[in-house]
Amino acid sequence: MKKEILERYPPKDRSNLIALLQEVQEVYGYLPKDDLRAIAEYLNLPLSSVYDVATFYNQFRLTPLGKNVIRVCRGAVCHVKNSANLLIALENELGIKAGQTTRDKNFTLETVACIGACDIAPVININEEYYGRAVNKEIPKILAKYMQEEISKNKIKKFNGIENQTA
Ligand code: FES
Repeated sequence: MKKEILERYPPKDRSNLIALLQEVQEVYGYLPKDDLRAIAEYLNLPLSSVYDVATFYNQFRLTPLGKNVIRVCRGAVCHVKNSANLLIALENELGIKAGQTTRDKNFTLETVACIGACDIAPVININEEYYGRAVNKEIPKILAKYMQEEISKNKIKKFNGIENQTA
């Protein structure tokens, strides 16, 4: 963990636990195990208490995000428009459940509350893009776009010999 993060907070002040966790996650995108240990030590808390907080709040994650983050809106309007079915279709297509990341780290699947695009419900958000009025049969095509990008990048790397240089 970056020492500067810890040093911004007084040691042994347990009231800063959430703020510290938020800051670490902002830097790394998740909460690495070693950092949880360092925070526990710094605040003089049992590691189990730090884990309790890190797993209680949805905002915290204990594993890194995939390259592409898929968010299925489960807000009220999207719910009425069957976003649950979209979620199931995505889970089936990717072979993971909401909150998980594919083994190849290409996709993380999450559910979110209203993402402010109710007029085009049900909505899926992937990275910066929004897919409105989404239907199950479009899922493979939507995912293929992100798989294709990965394949293309790998081909370019091989073509440029980057893979051989780093292997
Ligand atoms: S409920 Fe889904 S965008 Fe508002």
